[in-house]
Amino acid sequence: MKENIYIESYGCQMNFADSEVIAAILTQAGYALCDTVEEADFVLINTCAIRDNAEQRVRHRVRELRAAQNRRHTLRIGILGCMAERLQHRLMEEEENVSFVCGPDAYRRLPNLLALVRQGQRGAEVELSTVETYDDIDPVRLSGNGISAYISIMRGCQNFCAYCVVPYTRGRERSRNPETIIREARTLLENGYREVTLLGQNVNSYRWQGPNGTTAVDFPDLMARVAELHPQLRVRFATSHPKDLSDKLLQVMAAHDNICRCIHLPVQSGSDRMLQLMNRKYSVSWYLDRVDAIRRYLPDCSITTDVIAGFSTETDDDHRATLDLFRRVRYDYAYMFKYSLREGTFASRHLPDDIPDDIKTARLNEIIALQGELALENNRSEIGRTYEVLVEGTSHRSKERLFGRNSQNKVLVFDKGDAVPGTYRQVRVTDCTAATLLGELLPQ
Ligand code: 5AD
Ligand code: SF4
Repeated sequence: MKENIYIESYGCQMNFADSEVIAAILTQAGYALCDTVEEADFVLINTCAIRDNAEQRVRHRVRELRAAQNRRHTLRIGILGCMAERLQHRLMEEEENVSFVCGPDAYRRLPNLLALVRQGQRGAEVELSTVETYDDIDPVRLSGNGISAYISIMRGCQNFCAYCVVPYTRGRERSRNPETIIREARTLLENGYREVTLLGQNVNSYRWQGPNGTTAVDFPDLMARVAELHPQLRVRFATSHPKDLSDKLLQVMAAHDNICRCIHLPVQSGSDRMLQLMNRKYSVSWYLDRVDAIRRYLPDCSITTDVIAGFSTETDDDHRATLDLFRRVRYDYAYMFKYSLREGTFASRHLPDDIPDDIKTARLNEIIALQGELALENNRSEIGRTYEVLVEGTSHRSKERLFGRNSQNKVLVFDKGDAVPGTYRQVRVTDCTAATLLGELLPQ
């Protein structure tokens, strides 16, 4: 009988993509995947360390799993990903029911680790690598709808934004061989997928230098090659660091209709003083110039962002500058966070975490409220427009309705009519909320 693995994932898209690599490594080693904790011999939790609340959620989950372990003493728990890398052995000392930890560059060692754990030992594999990209591994698509999939194109980050733990948990930046990326995209296409999202912490610095002087492949080159596989395959990407967003990329996007009109461009703050303290390496005016360039090359492109409220020494004026920037750019979507001090980062060593929590919360709430208003206004201006939508599945609210996304990554919900998931259909927007566009399916 094969032993069963249950994988649970937290955090960013990269982590969900990693879980698919982990699933591939373990199924190749003879394990089976299962859908519930009850059937599992091993529960693997792929974790995020970016903010303290992400870690607290995982801690809570680990403690919750004690009940299942009391019912079945053979059940073993392993912590993978960024929290494993950050805390290493400490995690096993603090959480006694955890049998092993394994960092993001050590997943090939999971079969050994599991064998060790099966013999009653505990173990940690947390070495980071400068070369590991798992490029020869065909991910097992886990929670997929069979329509859209992630492809990891690079790993790590070396931007060292002052607040961010990622360079310490995911190591040096390295790009994956483009041939293996193209092969993965082609296989997905052949298996009926219609959308791929190329993933990296900073995709704009993707660069592959082949052996003996062959020309280098940069991110725009890679995007063009993936887009040219088939006009019916949509291509998305995340995340872009504003400092590296090139006109060349925007030109390649403009030249390919199937590269989606959506750019995630994390700004973090609208104040130059904050951006400098954060070590973001751009100013507000540089950022706005990039936004103008996007609008120039791609007038119908949506722009989304990440922002942090209450970073070290942030004043009311700095905060107001962020609100002003939001009003100027009018983001289609924003991920909004309170600053959370992360041990080991530059900020934790040199910059005070001096904004009281109630002020952080108040500022965050102001940003959320403003963004809510702007998103609703943006969505209202969509009423009457018609979009090509890739139909993804049944709406969560009603079985009679389907949902899909347009190129701008906005969700449209509409009466299902004769539409089928996995196909492209024209949908006219008739109404909206701040989060969703409601529409009617047009005849084929
Ligand atoms: N505190 C709050 N938010 C953070 N992010 C990264 N590190 C922190 C932190 N210490 C946010 C940034 C980043 C997103 C993935 O998470 O906005 O773009
Ligand atoms: Fe963190 Fe900055 Fe790297 Fe993004 S670019 S992962 S925020 S260090």
